[in-house]
Amino acid sequence: MENEDRIIYCIKKQFLCCTPINKFDFMTFGENGFKMVDTCIQEKLLNSTVNNPTVKKYPLKKSYQKAFLKFIIDKLERCNQDIHDNVYDLYCNLVSQNDDSSTHYRHFLLNDRATRDCITLEESTSIISHGTTGMCSWQAALTLAEWCISNESQLTGKRILELGSGIGLTGVAVISACSPKQYTFSDCHPAVLNLLCKNLYTNLSTDSKEHPENLEKRDERLQFRTRYKDSGVRVENLKWEEIEEYVNESTLVPEIVIAADVLYDKSNFSALSNALETLLKNGTQYAIIAATVRNSSTIAQFLEELDSKLGYEDEPVPNSEVFIQTSDAPIRIIRVFKELS
Ligand SMILES: C[S@@+](CC[C@H](N)C(=O)[O-])C[C@H]1O[C@@H](n2cnc3c(N)ncnc32)[C@H](O)[C@@H]1O
Repeated sequence: MENEDRIIYCIKKQFLCCTPINKFDFMTFGENGFKMVDTCIQEKLLNSTVNNPTVKKYPLKKSYQKAFLKFIIDKLERCNQDIHDNVYDLYCNLVSQNDDSSTHYRHFLLNDRATRDCITLEESTSIISHGTTGMCSWQAALTLAEWCISNESQLTGKRILELGSGIGLTGVAVISACSPKQYTFSDCHPAVLNLLCKNLYTNLSTDSKEHPENLEKRDERLQFRTRYKDSGVRVENLKWEEIEEYVNESTLVPEIVIAADVLYDKSNFSALSNALETLLKNGTQYAIIAATVRNSSTIAQFLEELDSKLGYEDEPVPNSEVFIQTSDAPIRIIRVFKELS
């Protein structure tokens, strides 16, 4: 069988970030209906997935773990392969448990150029929770992180502001792989900000970190602050409508602004394009926006609004080297800049 360890690593990577089972690639293990997956390989698979110590500490959604095991059991039964007792035990154990938690974890394995192996994020189990879409990671956040990693040299040593950060996927990837000088996460929803701070506390382990609960209400804007290796990291409560004030309060404006999946609500377009205009007028060099194209006319409408104030162009969308892309909707990466007058 082709390099068994490599296949187990690929399955582990897909499992840890909850790749939908119907999009899962079992590589040569899946050929001939799992005939080659003997009990010894099954044990290794369990140790990398459901029994992985990271999953034990920060569990994935139980229904997802159940579906994964059920899929494997069905495949093994169909080809009359012996099934390891632990596979059944774990499955029965999961079936007997309640699945009523409102949050779960996903883990995104990084490549060896990053300063950490994995990003661990607590997310909402539903795509809309507390009346916001910001409590889980969206596909555009992965594509933006992928763009940042493949354009690392543009971001190293820079002050970066992320708008509508959600719970932190893109930012933790940038901090871990691109060594910015300063990275500021921002969002305006209190529940999103709380979960974001928790996720940064989990991921950016430094001696000086303070528990987010001790930092809450430090001041109206600043929600969390830490250092991670060479990067200053901040979380700020920032509405796009308040960018003018924010720029006036700041001693240094960000050099680069990034944002993922912020082009879905037309009623926000004018606030967002004004915010970009203000930042670019005050010294920001450019903004990079990753947008999922659910409806091309929605994005066109935003770009029309933007066009009256700023220039823009599409960036090449990078191949998926670090993150697994499972969405069927295309993603656009748009660079926004101030036109020379
Ligand atoms: C679809 S989520 C995307 C979250 C994250 N960037 C991702 O891609 O996973 C949009 C985010 O934008 C934030 N947002 C929406 N309107 C905003 C506004 N006017 N000011 C600041 N943040 C806003 C929401 O709170 C939410 O976290």
